[in-house]
Amino acid sequence: MFTEGLIKLKHISNSINDTEKIAEQFANNLKGSEIILLEGDLGAGKTFFVKSVAKSIGCSDVITSPTFTLMQTYSGGEFTIFHFDLYRIKNFIELENFGFFEYLEEDGIKFVEWAERVNLESMLDNYIKINIEKTGEFSRVIEIFYKKGE
Ligand SMILES: Nc1ncnc2c1ncn2[C@@H]1O[C@H](COP(=O)(O)OP(=O)(O)O)[C@@H](O)[C@H]1O
Ligand SMILES: [Mg+2]
Repeated sequence: MFTEGLIKLKHISNSINDTEKIAEQFANNLKGSEIILLEGDLGAGKTFFVKSVAKSIGCSDVITSPTFTLMQTYSGGEFTIFHFDLYRIKNFIELENFGFFEYLEEDGIKFVEWAERVNLESMLDNYIKINIEKTGEFSRVIEIFYKKGE
């Protein structure tokens, strides 16, 4: 369905229920190996969106590793989900030492919060970017960009 370039979808959410539905629709189009970068301020709903995707593909096991501030794994569903939070990562070396690039090779969907801290976008050809903007206590604008290189 999605070819080259950049395709943008814009959704308006007025409740957590709306966001769950948007996440479910998004999840239905996943193949299983996508890298998804999440952008938005603290409290925008990035983590909530990932958990909603995990729920809708049937992931019931959450594995919180000792480095849980950096990564959580959701399994038991149609696909495994790796959920990274790079908020505490200071530079590329730290990212490498954490084993991030090995995790990217694993089978499963990878969600990354705070990818902009290490300018991850410039290192990837194919990825999806989701920007969540908080417009009110329960309202959000959720934009989804599909970026595909040659
Ligand atoms: N429409 C909405 N969509 C997503 N989250 C919402 C919405 N309305 C309220 N929230 C709340 O906003 C908070 C978002 O928190 P979180 O997902 O941890 O943010 P982030 O990971 O972006 O810092 C959650 O407590 C969630 O319940
Ligand atoms: Mg978060």
